[in-house]
Amino acid sequence: MTMTDELLRVDDLVVTLPTADGPRALLGGVDLHVGRGEIVGVAGESGSGKSLTALAIMGLLPGNATRGGSIRFDGAELLDLPERRMRSLRGSRMGMVFQDPMTTLNPLFRVGDQIAEAYLIHHPRKGRAVARARALEVLRLVGVPEPERRAQQYPHQWSGGMRQRAVIAIALANDPELVIADEATTALDATIQAQVVDVLVRARDELGVSVLFISHDLGLIAQIADRAVVMYAGRVVEGAAADEIFEDSRHPYARALLASRPGSSAPGTVLPTIPGQPARPGLLLHGCPFEPRCRYVHRSERCRDETPHLLASQDGRVSACHFRDDPRMEVGS
Ligand SMILES: Nc1ncnc2c1ncn2[C@@H]1O[C@H](COP(=O)(O)OP(=O)(O)OP(=O)(O)O)[C@@H](O)[C@H]1O
Ligand SMILES: [Mg+2]
Repeated sequence: MTMTDELLRVDDLVVTLPTADGPRALLGGVDLHVGRGEIVGVAGESGSGKSLTALAIMGLLPGNATRGGSIRFDGAELLDLPERRMRSLRGSRMGMVFQDPMTTLNPLFRVGDQIAEAYLIHHPRKGRAVARARALEVLRLVGVPEPERRAQQYPHQWSGGMRQRAVIAIALANDPELVIADEATTALDATIQAQVVDVLVRARDELGVSVLFISHDLGLIAQIADRAVVMYAGRVVEGAAADEIFEDSRHPYARALLASRPGSSAPGTVLPTIPGQPARPGLLLHGCPFEPRCRYVHRSERCRDETPHLLASQDGRVSACHFRDDPRMEVGS
């Protein structure tokens, strides 16, 4: 990929927030990039920092957060942009889809009006008629049948899957370059989930929009993403083509995450989980954060003493494991 194809680049993003135990670096150095028209998945257990990463990119972190590193969007450093400029980027060039559609939809207004409103905020001179036409256009794009009739309805008249389509329509209303979907399909049942995921893939195919697709489900990410990163304890520990991570992952945590997927073991067997507690981000001073839970045969003193960085192995795959060059990644007992 050439540099001009790159839309978003996050380098060594550190986010520190006050917690009950004092200030903690909940993101300890996140590295990822998204090309134009690319779908990049972000996987990781609960608490690994996926949502904080999304909020940092959108400029929506709590006011008491301190941020370090770099987030470049189309060449501009977002961490330096004044809030006024961030506000004009949000919703126009970057859209966001959260897990619960009702965090975006207002129950008191008709769905069509809410999409038109999202368009008018960034196109104040276009007028109502243009905005209403745009609303119907994006409803059609996200596969809502009978958009004229549906636009007149209120959110409670829509099912969960349809509401999530409406939220995607709002995110797409201003023809953004990037959509961040944070567990956007997690609350939906499998069939509806597949349909909503398909809407995002179509948006990429037809509009060329880039998608940062956050999910704890690496299997789902492997189905739709071009590339994926795996996060653990506030850091990216592996990045590769999505199918490479799925079939031949190079980090013991990514391997364990895959093994613990529902459906990854024979029917009737107990679902494997990753033994041990997830590391609490920002507390580790040295060593590999995954070391206490790692079952990899090469686990050693070095893992306890020296923090592994996200580096390329001989074959170009990046992993934050000291033993990234051992392609067998054998698991001990
Ligand atoms: N505003 C906040 N103040 C203090 N700690 C926070 C705040 N927001 C998140 N955290 C902590 O930061 C860590 C990362 O949280 P984050 O929400 O990014 O995780 P996640 O990967 O999105 O998890 P999930 O899969 O559950 O959504 C967690 O330990 C969380 O408790
Ligand atoms: Mg989250």
